[in-house]
Amino acid sequence: MKKPEKLIVDGKRLDGRTPDELRPLKIEAGILERADGSASVELGANKVLAAVYGPREMHPRHLQQPDTAVLRCRYNMAPFSVDERKRPGPDRRSVEISKVTREALEPVLFLELYPRSAIDVFIEVLQADAGTRTAGITAAAVALADAGVPMRDMISSVAVGKIDDTRVLDLTKDEDNWGTTDMPIAMMPRKKLITLLQMDGHFAKEEFGQALDLAFKGCEQIYGAQRQALRDKYAIKKGE
Ligand code: CDP
Repeated sequence: MKKPEKLIVDGKRLDGRTPDELRPLKIEAGILERADGSASVELGANKVLAAVYGPREMHPRHLQQPDTAVLRCRYNMAPFSVDERKRPGPDRRSVEISKVTREALEPVLFLELYPRSAIDVFIEVLQADAGTRTAGITAAAVALADAGVPMRDMISSVAVGKIDDTRVLDLTKDEDNWGTTDMPIAMMPRKKLITLLQMDGHFAKEEFGQALDLAFKGCEQIYGAQRQALRDKYAIKKGE
């Protein structure tokens, strides 16, 4: 697709959304039998799975920490998830995303409760259309809760950005490519604490505040869907 002259026409984006609208979102908890916890997130064309194992004894042993568990996160993109086949295996981008994912999730976990243990989080991107790191974090947080890992709060995550000089929520790949700014955010939705903030491009000071407000609102909506996914899995059906 060629870059259109405008990315927002009459207040509507290329896919018909308003600037403060999320893509269609679907979250499911407990979708994998063999993982201790799991979740799937579909956000627009993104399809992401998360699986959690642990807390369990850390192997290899020399990586054990005597006074705390260690959170290990691996973000991986399937070769068929993007337009141009992605070479399988880790690359700079996935190593970076795995690191920021760990840092985004760690603050809500009580790792000190599980000395010498590991909690492993695997994120698999099956289909990508921008915003996969945030969708992965959103899925991983639900999978951690599904695994019964004690948490201080949920973690909800979404990107905000700037296209045609307008702040927008949840950029698509086209908007990410043709826009000027992309700012992925993760936060604790109840405590309103930010655990991930990256920025590609820039915002003026007042734009930054507006973009943060937009991200907070987006995360609130995502938090609602995360809770609903967990409720749906654990709801005791009438008559059972
Ligand atoms: O996915 P996210 O926005 O968190 O990360 P990004 O590095 O900003 O990548 C934006 C998008 O570029 C991804 O979601 C993919 O749709 C696309 N991409 C790609 O087509 N091929 C890659 N090797 C990596 C990313």
